[in-house]
Amino acid sequence: MPLAGISAWQALSEHMNLSAGQKILVHGGAGGIGSNAIQIAKHLGAFVAATVSPEDKQFVKKLGADQVIDYKSEPFERLVNNFDAVFDTVGGDTYKKSFQVLKKDGIIVSMLEQPDNELVKKFGVRVISQFTQVSSEKLSKLGELVDRGKIKVFVDKTFPLIKAAEALDYLQKGHHRGKVLLKIK
Ligand SMILES: NC(=O)c1ccc[n+]([C@@H]2O[C@H](COP(=O)([O-])OP(=O)(O)OC[C@H]3O[C@@H](n4cnc5c(N)ncnc54)[C@H](OP(=O)(O)O)[C@@H]3O)[C@@H](O)[C@H]2O)c1
Repeated sequence: MPLAGISAWQALSEHMNLSAGQKILVHGGAGGIGSNAIQIAKHLGAFVAATVSPEDKQFVKKLGADQVIDYKSEPFERLVNNFDAVFDTVGGDTYKKSFQVLKKDGIIVSMLEQPDNELVKKFGVRVISQFTQVSSEKLSKLGELVDRGKIKVFVDKTFPLIKAAEALDYLQKGHHRGKVLLKIK
């Protein structure tokens, strides 16, 4: 929660000021940050679309996503339009194509990319490149949502500290849901 949860909270609540009835697209919806973002967006009353691998479709539906897009076979830029916000946890082409789905004055918050001034001008949207800043105040707010059952924390796998190298290999192979933990006795 201190990194993945706060990243999602900072983007949606502080940068986007997301409110009830608005539409947001979350890229990487089954990841550590994305899975928190979907739950926070639903808590704030937004309509949520998410891009995920095909095997994660059910998982993010259970988190509350209203529209789920398989990023491996479905072009999200043709399925979504006139959205208020995009939360980009993926970067690259996914970030570039995201401009097309926003309404004028919409916003992209990217965890990886810098604003592309040409695209910003062309589409008339805002881009924020986020650097997550953790504070005990933000963590307390998130903690309340966890206590009230509004946000569930997903742990994919736990390794003992002595198997840290194995844990990193596991992460690198990709396709985990939520976070991978090291247990310290
Ligand atoms: N700027 C900052 O302060 C800051 C802070 C924290 C993290 N970050 C960065 O934020 C990024 C996300 O972090 P995370 O912890 O959420 O990572 P994560 O748990 O690895 O999640 C990434 C998710 O993206 C999915 N994905 C990969 N390619 C995709 C695509 N083309 N379209 C849609 N989804 C795709 C992955 O699914 P599959 O595995 O199924 O492909 C995975 O579920 C990382 O690059 C991290 O370094 C930045």
